[in-house]
Amino acid sequence: MHVFVTGGTGLIGSAVVAELLGNGHTALVLARSEASARAVEAAGAEPLGGGLDDLDVLRAGAERSDGVVHLAFSNDFSSAEAVQRSVAEEAAALAVLGEELVGSDRPLVTVSGTPWVPGRVSTEADPLPTDGLVGGRGRSVTSALALAARGVRASAVRLPRTVHDEGDGGFAGLLTQLARQTGVSGYPGDGTQRWPAVHARDAAVLFRLVLEQAPAGTAWHAVADEGDAVRDIATVIGRRLGLPVEALPEEAFGPLGPVFAMDQPSSSAHTRETLGWEPTQPSLLADLERIEP
Ligand SMILES: NC(=O)c1ccc[n+]([C@@H]2O[C@H](COP(=O)([O-])OP(=O)(O)OC[C@H]3O[C@@H](n4cnc5c(N)ncnc54)[C@H](OP(=O)(O)O)[C@@H]3O)[C@@H](O)[C@H]2O)c1
Repeated sequence: MHVFVTGGTGLIGSAVVAELLGNGHTALVLARSEASARAVEAAGAEPLGGGLDDLDVLRAGAERSDGVVHLAFSNDFSSAEAVQRSVAEEAAALAVLGEELVGSDRPLVTVSGTPWVPGRVSTEADPLPTDGLVGGRGRSVTSALALAARGVRASAVRLPRTVHDEGDGGFAGLLTQLARQTGVSGYPGDGTQRWPAVHARDAAVLFRLVLEQAPAGTAWHAVADEGDAVRDIATVIGRRLGLPVEALPEEAFGPLGPVFAMDQPSSSAHTRETLGWEPTQPSLLADLERIEP
């Protein structure tokens, strides 16, 4: 398949592009800068110059492809306003990508987060939250999945709180950044709340399987570790960086504080059983051992 990929230069997207190229596909990758275009070429794919707000470029990329994998997101969590801007930009981009594929039966694989359900582990059958700070992303993905009724093989890969590589990435990566800035490896609440995780290379395999096989309108969980206690994550970070490990108030974590404080374990039993996906890469706690002071 010739696949149009957005976000193909990111932590997850670069693993997805490598996975596609290693399994008989070719990739056309959105690149918003010269540096990104060079990275795409170095990976062996073709860059398509433009950003998420270049809607004509997105249309052209989708039109030239046999399927689309959408991963680009600004990931600016510095303020609630910045997050809202990113969510709105992504919503418009995803709508354009989906419209371009209507009636073609081509796949559109988009990304979202695993849902959280109070008191139990979430599954693929649980709906995405559509309220709260990033609820708009849930609404965008739900609209994309509804394109199943209009001849798009739309599907979603739901990612856990931390998608990691070399100890970096996701919520655990944000904890590491904060620890470096403040000199304390902090965690919110009592630290027993659990966050699920997956290695980027394992997630990439699932993106490929979903692109190749998933029926229209389906959602899948790229979860390798069902849930690590956040205090355990902060403990490894503190030890690796030589910093004290302490409980901190939610406000210390910025707009994501309330999300950080929630217990949100998630299962991928249905995904593993149905698509034959089996993670093989290091767990989050093992991968965090790679971070350096
Ligand atoms: N990492 C995680 O733990 C995690 C967990 C849950 C969900 N996710 C989601 O998974 C997706 C990929 O995450 P990631 O960790 O791989 O992110 P990342 O490393 O920050 O990469 C983001 C990618 O999106 C591109 N991008 C950002 N804004 C863009 C714009 N306005 N126009 C065009 N391209 C743009 C970046 O391009 P440049 O290379 O040019 O900057 C890069 O390729 C995101 O939707 C993210 O929210 C990630």
